[in-house]
Amino acid sequence: MTVAVYPTPEDLARATAAWLRERAVAGGPQFAVCLAGGSTPRRVYELLASTERARFPWERVHWFFGDERFVPHDHPDSNFRMAREAMFDAASVPAANQHPIPTAGQPAQAAQRYENELHEFYGAATLDPRRPLFDVVLLGLGEDGHTASLFPGTTALQERERWVVDVRNPKAEPRISLTYPALESSREIAFLVTGAHKRDILARVWGGEDLPAARLQGRAAPDWFIDRAAEPNANMR
Ligand code: 6PG
Repeated sequence: MTVAVYPTPEDLARATAAWLRERAVAGGPQFAVCLAGGSTPRRVYELLASTERARFPWERVHWFFGDERFVPHDHPDSNFRMAREAMFDAASVPAANQHPIPTAGQPAQAAQRYENELHEFYGAATLDPRRPLFDVVLLGLGEDGHTASLFPGTTALQERERWVVDVRNPKAEPRISLTYPALESSREIAFLVTGAHKRDILARVWGGEDLPAARLQGRAAPDWFIDRAAEPNANMR
């Protein structure tokens, strides 16, 4: 587990954007990024489309989503809308490289449609541990320890076959989420966590409490990009 602590959220966003650009430049002919939703990563996406834009290999990077709120793509809560406003439009990302999670129809059918799209991109319906689905997965951390839309107490936490499920979360609108097998099938996984309000949950995750974010077992341990405000006491790592 590598932890990078930055003085401010802006420092974290600049470092994360540069980190992702470096990996995409060094990556193969098709580089697959699974984006985090929520508010933390927005600045990273804005910087990719601005300070990093000229050096970023947009033509060969494909953008997927770790989860989505089951709302129209122009809804203020849509993760796709956030990414489109922060990055896709500003960087003129080809439509073929944007892979939004569908939110029309019924959640279960939308989840299946996205799983089918992931199968098609990957070229198979079974994940090979030697060939990851993604090159980079970006994730956030909720104050209840969720990540993507893998909320505590939901059956999504037990799903080990399907890549995408619909999640009924009593505290929020229906969600579509990638499952652990899909999120774990990545060369690298990076959590982005900022703010004093995340310090306690981060300490609990790092302290080994059985929380959804702590259950993620990638090929390698996830990287943690945090700001000073979110940093637990040094002995909690
Ligand atoms: C979402 C995200 C979710 C998010 C965390 C942290 O759709 O909301 O996928 O997992 O990453 O809730 O959200 P913030 O970055 O807004 O704190």
